[in-house]
Amino acid sequence: MQIIALNGSPRKENSTTKKLVDEVLFGVRTAGAETSYIDLCQYTIGYCTGCGSCYISGNCVIDDDYPEILKRILSADGIVFASPNYINQVTAQVKTFLDRSADAIHCQRFSGMYGCSVSTAGGSGALEVAAYLNRTLGILGADTVGGVGVVMAEGEEAWNRAVQEARKLGKDLVDAIQVRRKFPEQEAVHHEMHERMKALILSNKDVWKHEYRYWQDKGWL
Ligand SMILES: Cc1cc2nc3c(=O)[nH]c(=O)nc-3n(C[C@H](O)[C@H](O)[C@H](O)COP(=O)(O)O)c2cc1C
Repeated sequence: MQIIALNGSPRKENSTTKKLVDEVLFGVRTAGAETSYIDLCQYTIGYCTGCGSCYISGNCVIDDDYPEILKRILSADGIVFASPNYINQVTAQVKTFLDRSADAIHCQRFSGMYGCSVSTAGGSGALEVAAYLNRTLGILGADTVGGVGVVMAEGEEAWNRAVQEARKLGKDLVDAIQVRRKFPEQEAVHHEMHERMKALILSNKDVWKHEYRYWQDKGWL
């Protein structure tokens, strides 16, 4: 079993968020799975221009590292999304990556995958950012097992608590994948999303040829 983490902090090895992600991945390895890590800011990912080419052809007009990262994520069994809180949101690098994922959302490419999210913040909002990342994993089709967030201003005790939570979260992610855990509330959200995307694909079927074909091949239409 392979779990991949994607961190959108630009602070490389100094990233506090990376340190917390490392604890999640420690938990993952303790539970017997393999891990890999993507430092998102070391890659080149351009802004979505909203041209709709990916809906039509499955490919973006921008030639950059996005497809490679998506491919790596899709080849894993589970994903850890991580970002520090930048002005009560994910970093611009993470948002840029997510904006490029509209086709992946239309095609529910993360269906059957499991994930969790991690965030750190200076003074507030870490859990909110982790919750946003989990909601995004959800609209991509994944089930999420939980999130961990820590506000650094709360000091060492809060950090130590978060480390324990992060290790537990990593183990829980592996367990959820092993038993193919069901989340009835999330299934309802997936169902609603599926119906909404289906209507969208059908109403654009003459133009969004790649997405229509993808849904047909999946047997979802
Ligand atoms: C541009 C910028 C914006 C930030 N915005 C917030 C914020 O809105 N709220 C907050 O609590 N911390 C904010 N922070 C602090 C970071 O969230 C915090 O230092 C975090 O732990 C950094 O994680 P990293 O080391 O993984 O990059 C901000 C930091 C930067 C550089």
